Amino acid sequence: MKIIGIATSPRKGGNSQKLVESVLAGAKDAGAETELICLTDQNIHPCIGCGDCKSGHDTCAQKDDMSMLYEKIAAADGIIFGAPIYFGRLNAQAYMVIDRMWALLNPDFSLRIPAGKKFAVALTCGPGDAKTIQPMEQYFQNTVCGIFGFTYAGTVWQNQLMSPADLEKFPEKITEANELGKRLV
Ligand SMILES: Cc1cc2nc3c(=O)[nH]c(=O)nc-3n(C[C@H](O)[C@H](O)[C@H](O)COP(=O)(O)O)c2cc1C
Repeated sequence: MKIIGIATSPRKGGNSQKLVESVLAGAKDAGAETELICLTDQNIHPCIGCGDCKSGHDTCAQKDDMSMLYEKIAAADGIIFGAPIYFGRLNAQAYMVIDRMWALLNPDFSLRIPAGKKFAVALTCGPGDAKTIQPMEQYFQNTVCGIFGFTYAGTVWQNQLMSPADLEKFPEKITEANELGKRLV
């Protein structure tokens, strides 16, 4: 059982990454092999909409670290996807990865990866509240999980997180993230 965490914040070691790490810790406690991938360590470019992955080729024409991420997503049994809220939606880096996942779909939109992977979400924000988070939660649950055949396992989120260490003020959220990690296994 392999669970991967994808931390998309441009701020390495920030709140959403720590929330992802806490989900992975719960998954590890439940017996999973876990791996954290921080986008800050990767060289990944945006989708250029070239259509190459839909016209005779079964992967992306761009050769960057997304090639590694395709393999890790394909091999994973579960994924925890972490992102901060930027201006009421996800950060640009999160959408960049999701857009590049276009290459995981065949021209008829069937999957190039096995269906049924468990998928959970870790979101952090500042002054926002549940009304800020809900549209993003629904986006992951309906659009992302729907398109990629993921089984939605839940979302953990926390607001009032501005400084990178602010998550430490919410120890109960770490426990909730651990529990979500166990449900991914
Ligand atoms: C460009 C930018 C836009 C932001 N927009 C929002 C927002 O619309 N709502 C909100 O509650 N917090 C907003 N924030 C605050 C971040 O979501 C918050 O600090 C988050 O915990 C950062 O996660 P990180 O530590 O993983 O980078 C914004 C932060 C930045 C840098």
